[in-house]
Amino acid sequence: MERPHAAFDTVTLERDGVRLIDQRRLPDEEVYVTCATAEATATAIRDMVVRGAPAIGITAAFGVVVEARRLAGTLGQATALAAALAPAVDLLAGTRPTAVNLFWALDRMRRVLGTATGPAATLVEHLEAEALEIWREDLAMCRAMGDHGAALLPDGCRVLTHCNAGGLATAGYGTALGVIRSAWRQGKLHSVLADETRPFLQGARLTAWELHKDAIPVTVITDNMAAWLMHQGKVDAVLVGADRVAANGDAANKIGTYGLALAARAHGIPFYVVFPTSTLDLTLPTGASIPIEERPTREVTHVGEKRLVPEGVPVHNPAFDVTPAALITALITERGVVSPPFGPGLDKLSVRS
Ligand code: MRU
Repeated sequence: MERPHAAFDTVTLERDGVRLIDQRRLPDEEVYVTCATAEATATAIRDMVVRGAPAIGITAAFGVVVEARRLAGTLGQATALAAALAPAVDLLAGTRPTAVNLFWALDRMRRVLGTATGPAATLVEHLEAEALEIWREDLAMCRAMGDHGAALLPDGCRVLTHCNAGGLATAGYGTALGVIRSAWRQGKLHSVLADETRPFLQGARLTAWELHKDAIPVTVITDNMAAWLMHQGKVDAVLVGADRVAANGDAANKIGTYGLALAARAHGIPFYVVFPTSTLDLTLPTGASIPIEERPTREVTHVGEKRLVPEGVPVHNPAFDVTPAALITALITERGVVSPPFGPGLDKLSVRS
């Protein structure tokens, strides 16, 4: 596999399993874990060892491969192996509900399982080839989005981003951070403001870590500072990723994205959503039916071992929100930039195939 970033690998397929950088331990420690079964891979996705819409899709596809390798030794025929893998695919699909990339990637793996004939070893080879292709395509899509998006930014642009839509959330390079990387290489980017992104702190821990490694100027702010910095004229554009985009352009992304879009609109600042077409869910006419994951309350009540909220007080922890299409300036995909009205534009991308 190509190494898109010299300093870290988000997810790779190795002989002994799916290798992941443990994102829960960043930025303190750069520790890798290897998942040798589908069950271990599913646990890693659920527990946020790996996170970010494209990255969890790739990881799940790799999880199917490691399970197939494990079972192929005892099952000689491809049809028997395909049947035995069905529960593992379902287990991986049950890990996180919002990012459609997970289901998109597993559907691709299911299609390969549907072609099973001959020896089990041949099916394993086909599953490996498909999973690695998903990884390769994601990297290529990120680079293409980077170029399309950078073209929209003015020279000397000061960008604000939320959560982590970077190399750590994809095969490498990133979606929103891919645009930032491309703009930086082209000399168009002045600096990045990274929202810390309560409660999991993807911005403070992950976005800051990977941009700092690339020597891209980044300043971390708490989420409640963004509107004020916009008011002060310190933000030229907002760039965010997405976990699922409906047919009308409504975009689910990390909780807090909707508030940023409202603030950007109030200050006349362009608000761009950057995503590969694997994030598009044309089966949903609007974002109203995007399932929003409720994460464990401990993410809100504690920072590390320290309790912040009094014992017994209820806590709500929706992990995502949906930004209405009307607040989005443009959608940036690997196939080009889509301007409002998004419905016809997304349809024209011909991604239904
Ligand atoms: O809960 P997470 O960390 O998986 O949420 C990730 C996000 O919301 C990202 O912004 C999104 O997946 C886009 S990543 C290219």
